[in-house]
Amino acid sequence: MSIIEKALNKSNNEEIEVNTILTCKSKVTNEDNISVVTDDIINTNKVTPNLNDDKNIVVDIDWKRLSDLGFAAPGSLNTEAIEEYRNIKRPLVNNAFGNGHNGIARANLILITSSLPGEGKTFTAINLALSIANERDKKVLLIDADVARPSISKVLGINDSPGLIEYLDGADINFSDIIIKTSIPGLGVIPAGKLHDYSTELLSSNKMALFVEELSNRYPDRIVIFDSPPLLAATQGEVLARLVGQVVLVIEAEKTMQNVVMESVAKLATCDVVLALFNKTKRNMDINYYGYGYGYGQYAH
Ligand SMILES: Nc1ncnc2c1ncn2[C@@H]1O[C@H](COP(=O)(O)OP(=O)(O)OP(=O)(O)O)[C@@H](O)[C@H]1O
Ligand SMILES: [Mg+2]
Repeated sequence: MSIIEKALNKSNNEEIEVNTILTCKSKVTNEDNISVVTDDIINTNKVTPNLNDDKNIVVDIDWKRLSDLGFAAPGSLNTEAIEEYRNIKRPLVNNAFGNGHNGIARANLILITSSLPGEGKTFTAINLALSIANERDKKVLLIDADVARPSISKVLGINDSPGLIEYLDGADINFSDIIIKTSIPGLGVIPAGKLHDYSTELLSSNKMALFVEELSNRYPDRIVIFDSPPLLAATQGEVLARLVGQVVLVIEAEKTMQNVVMESVAKLATCDVVLALFNKTKRNMDINYYGYGYGYGQYAH
């Protein structure tokens, strides 16, 4: 029995048919599906976004505060968390930069999502971004795409500033107006921006598709991490999942029911690579299967 099967069994104490969702997948089978959509969009709109980030704001992040909140911040004494995120990022980075990128389109774009609120998306997104940015030769762009309930800026202590929504909504807002540099040279942040009644439409717009396409093509050496809303609470997560090469489905271990996870998996059916991340596992629960409190599972559709 695999880690994910064990975990799901533990998560709801029911007999489950895990084979329907939990098989291993490393190769793209439905790439055409996704590229048709974006190619279409690109053919109808040839304006390439200018992703020049020369003029931008630099924000000093309070790493000590983050460390106190349990994040794997630079210089933090949370050595276990630092080690955990080293392991968690490895398959994602390998997929993004491995030889031939494993045939995964836009593998450097990673969406962090979950079925329900509070499962740990933002915590995971920030920790992964910190962990990757700490590798001297890697750059990370962390985008708060949870545009209805943004929290990256709040957690990182970034003041209100224009973000993804303003960029998508306004013709006169450039990439350089929304990207925020941090005191880690390799870490940039794009806040969600203001609340907007049509945020779902903006995220599904041509401009968003061109933006992510350009991020992937122009910065193949950069990992872009999107924090997103829960899949079962809003349609935006599903929309975003179609734009990226890799999806991390955060599952609150022992809490989120298997039928709920299955529903999310169905929503991710067009995604090339989905990694299930068991979060908030109890350290004394089953150390052999969960290591230091996290576990990964991979599945196909
Ligand atoms: N592995 C973890 N260890 C310790 N605390 C965690 C862990 N994962 C999440 N948390 C904490 O749980 C709470 C919820 O996490 P987080 O905000 O990341 O969830 P979310 O999925 O982004 O929620 P939302 O759907 O509301 O955006 C936060 O206080 C966070 O710090
Ligand atoms: Mg969140």
